[in-house]
Amino acid sequence: MTSFIKQRMTQPPPYIPFLDEVLLTEAQIQERVTELGQVISQHYAGSQNLLLVCILKGGVLFLTDLMRHITVPHTIDFMAVTSYGEGARASSGQVRILMDLAQSINGRDVLLVEDIVDSGNTLSYIINQLKARHPHSLSICTLLSKPSRREVEIPVDFLGFEIEDKFVFGYGLDLDERFRNMPFIGVVKREALG
Ligand code: IMP
Ligand code: MG
Repeated sequence: MTSFIKQRMTQPPPYIPFLDEVLLTEAQIQERVTELGQVISQHYAGSQNLLLVCILKGGVLFLTDLMRHITVPHTIDFMAVTSYGEGARASSGQVRILMDLAQSINGRDVLLVEDIVDSGNTLSYIINQLKARHPHSLSICTLLSKPSRREVEIPVDFLGFEIEDKFVFGYGLDLDERFRNMPFIGVVKREALG
């Protein structure tokens, strides 16, 4: 047995000290992602130019699972943004593009795939940027939404789960850049938020 496997069998998982409770299990997430894929496939049936735009880095696990359930032919692209004053809490209104799309979205059916809408500032900025590039359509798919925290109204077309105002991590969402690989979503312990 390799030492890596041995370690995984004997050590507690590294996220344990930060985990208050499991909010959404792997099974709950996978069931909802499957449903979303079906709804999205119906919505875009017949589209010749569907493009899924993943917002890095949080949306990456969601994208790769979701696309397996989308039966309409599509391509994918990635965009990375940052917001000033970003920490554990939500973004300010000041957003900047770190990595732009590799292709034109002119005339395409664009579906933004995001991990979570919190204040709405990040998505609001991205939506304005992308609208100016004249897509045929622009829709929003987010796994999570915290409506009680909204500062800017965001038209969410496809939603996984509405959640309370708690800081969560796992399944793409980070706690100081770590634990994005957890297959479930957990609530962070208050003490761990600093
Ligand atoms: P917004 O601009 O305030 O809507 O924040 C959006 C971004 O903040 C998301 O894409 C996440 O990267 C981050 N974020 C907001 N809430 C959480 C959370 O509970 N856990 C981890 N990241 C979060
Ligand atoms: Mg983030």
